[in-house]
Amino acid sequence: MAKKMKYDVKDLKLAELGKKRILWADGDMPVLAILRKQFEKDKPLKGMRMSACLHITAETANLARTLVAGGADLVLCASNPLSTQDDVAAALVKYFKIPVFAIKGEDRRTYYKHLTAAIDHKPNITMDDGADLVNELHTKRKKEAENIIASMEETTTGVIRLRAMEAKGILKFPVIAVNDADTKHLFDNRYGTGQSTIDGVIRATDMLLAGKDVVVAGYGWCGKGFAMRAAGMGAHVTVTEVDSIRALEATMDGYRVCTIEEAASYGDLFVTVTGNKHVLRPEHFRKMKDGAMVANSGHFDVEIDIPGLKKLAKSVRNVRPFVDEFTLKNGKRIRLLGQGRLINLAAAEGHPACVMDMSFSTQALTSAFAVKNKGKLEIKVHDVPASIDKKVAELKLKSMDIKIDKLTAVQKRYLAESGEGT
Ligand code: ADE
Repeated sequence: MAKKMKYDVKDLKLAELGKKRILWADGDMPVLAILRKQFEKDKPLKGMRMSACLHITAETANLARTLVAGGADLVLCASNPLSTQDDVAAALVKYFKIPVFAIKGEDRRTYYKHLTAAIDHKPNITMDDGADLVNELHTKRKKEAENIIASMEETTTGVIRLRAMEAKGILKFPVIAVNDADTKHLFDNRYGTGQSTIDGVIRATDMLLAGKDVVVAGYGWCGKGFAMRAAGMGAHVTVTEVDSIRALEATMDGYRVCTIEEAASYGDLFVTVTGNKHVLRPEHFRKMKDGAMVANSGHFDVEIDIPGLKKLAKSVRNVRPFVDEFTLKNGKRIRLLGQGRLINLAAAEGHPACVMDMSFSTQALTSAFAVKNKGKLEIKVHDVPASIDKKVAELKLKSMDIKIDKLTAVQKRYLAESGEGT
């Protein structure tokens, strides 16, 4: 008799709506759809037990369908307590028969219980968004780490954690930094975060950005994307940075650059996208204007020092979904959006399907690459092979009906030779 599927989702009755959203997103993920067909035929993941810790969204559902089409025995768990789309989680279980452990708003204990369930699946291959699964496998579940062929990492913060593990010499299996592929960070981090962060802030607050002072902490690809889109909506954008090159880049991109301390006194909205801890701290909150909004679009909820904010407050009240208002002892009110968790997934739907198409196609092809190279990959953080990046870019252009030029024979020769000069 077939074993009963284990899962933990909010409510299976939400599955109908979830299925509609998955299929809607699928319409904007043409590259992944092509790969799904190929995977169905070639079965590159056949015999693989796979656990993926990702934001459980409609786009992730389409990646999951692709991995299963490729032969993977897949289990999904949430990579953030507040990013799960409960209807999608229900549809994955009910209609696609993929076990999911994820509930929007789950507490810390449940979050870790769900990670545990994913590891209980005894995976040979894992996929992470933030490296929590890999971290569990290196700390509490070391025995299970022995079965892992490789792991894929989706986000900047996860890659930073993995590189730190590599530097300490404690990494136990090869990992592939999918985030660092051009087809991922140049599009998902920049255009995805740019648009979806604005979406999250607006859905949470209904604020008008035109004419506002928006302070962006961090000018990596996500910060660049958000600054660009906020400026496009008429905000006066200030960038704060710790890196001198990025600070110069932001200056010459036309933004005001100053310290957070200085920006604290005039910002209307502060968004952290640094991947670091306690970027906005009590000394900044104290200086902020009455009604200032603070949000985070980095992976973890540590960028805003929320315990520090609580200590400064004489009262806290929820004023609308995803907005908590802290009244400080100095009388000023600070509004924290989405509990300091990534605002684009907490209050909105994350990056649009069109851009996740590339990130998740790169994930799917990289998984197949890892399986094909089982036992041959060194234990370190690997880049995605350039051939995968190129294939995804070519398929995406094709899906957009965009043609590009080819090098002529003369041009190829010119590039290959050094003789011709002035
Ligand atoms: N990360 C950011 N946006 C996302 C989405 N829509 N689905 C999965 N992961 C995401």
